[in-house]
Amino acid sequence: MIDLLLGLQWGDEGKGKVVDVLTRNYDIIARFQGGPNAGHTLIFDGNKHVLHTIPSGIFHPRAMNLVGNGVVIDPVIFKKELENLSRHNINFKERLLISRKAHIILPTHRLLDAASEKMKGKAKIGSTLKGIGPTYMDKTGRNGIRVGDLELSDWKERYSNLCHKHLKMIKFYEVELEFDLDAMEKEFFEAIEVLRELQFIDSEAYINKALRDKKSILAEGAQGSLLDIDFGTYPYVTSSNTTAAGACTGLGVAPSRIGSVYGIFKAYTTRVGSGPFPTELFDEDGKTMARIGNEFGATTGRPRRCGWLDLIALKYAVEINGVTNLMMMKGDVLSGFKTIKACTSYTYKGKEILHLPYNIEPENVSVNYTEFEGWDEDLTAITSPSQMPENLKDYIRFIEDFVGVKVSLVSVGPDRNQTIRIE
Ligand code: IMP
Repeated sequence: MIDLLLGLQWGDEGKGKVVDVLTRNYDIIARFQGGPNAGHTLIFDGNKHVLHTIPSGIFHPRAMNLVGNGVVIDPVIFKKELENLSRHNINFKERLLISRKAHIILPTHRLLDAASEKMKGKAKIGSTLKGIGPTYMDKTGRNGIRVGDLELSDWKERYSNLCHKHLKMIKFYEVELEFDLDAMEKEFFEAIEVLRELQFIDSEAYINKALRDKKSILAEGAQGSLLDIDFGTYPYVTSSNTTAAGACTGLGVAPSRIGSVYGIFKAYTTRVGSGPFPTELFDEDGKTMARIGNEFGATTGRPRRCGWLDLIALKYAVEINGVTNLMMMKGDVLSGFKTIKACTSYTYKGKEILHLPYNIEPENVSVNYTEFEGWDEDLTAITSPSQMPENLKDYIRFIEDFVGVKVSLVSVGPDRNQTIRIE
């Protein structure tokens, strides 16, 4: 079976840490969507590592790591990730596999991303500007360049044709954009040569053989369900399916092969970039969450918007993904709040509703909270559920009852060891 690990909010839930904690149980860790817009932070042995495209299993000597067909790869960022691994003496060559069907982010995709955002002005998505949207547009437009194309003799010609088209499109946007394409291309082609040293495979055949051979596989999601291209807060979303179904198309596995679905959420909510966020806080509580939770984007360094947990949105994500186990991250950040709140209904056009409506912009919905008594205890050294403050236990029980799934893990700090497992 293949298990899935998915973010249930707007990304940055702490998936990197959980994959790292779970990885030792799996033979293969696979990424199935997104690209270097993701930033998975892992902290262990006093070192901080940020991965963007490479699966988090790379830090465990036993696991194979697959970058699936649904992923988009920026060779330049990929090269930097590999260099970082080399610096830490991580041997990746034998354990890193790349799907021939994964699409490649070209330098001009990044420029198109920037041009598109500039033209949108105030309505900008808040993209990470990594070229994700334009690359997926070329994929569905059937123009894209895939990793397997690098093995063809005419790939440079294909590159030139697409690049030429992109430059025309950039002009069409009529925005001022400064760039040095020669320098970008130099960096790109150097990185392509590094990429070529890795193993390109027909990953759908590999993964289905692994399933037949009873290997254990974990598919590691990037971003979160509310950024899903279909089910997220469109148009303020990313360009891939971040939800469970994305693992089937992004790896070539059948739905019947899916085992456990681990859903990761923060004890509160954060969002980077633009778009509606009903429980967003603009007061001291929000600032405290940002400060204690160190809420800055792993990829862009941008400050994250913070707010209370939205249980209506969480329930929606649990349903769409078929979550079987919940994992609550950053429980420690809520220590010291006198009152903790969670959104348990919306008021939509004057009526109380219990589901996520089509429009969740502030002019359409307001939130109704249930309040909980906080706790003062520092949680960061807690290792077992019995040591958890009663008020934290009540908060968790309420969440479980509301969304109908048990919480099996609570994270109380960034380190691998700061993890409480609940049987
Ligand atoms: P893009 O995917 O870079 O175009 O960004 C689209 C939206 O998704 C923006 O609001 C980004 O801030 C958000 N986003 C993309 N990747 C991540 C992530 O890994 N964590 C959190 N937000 C993300």
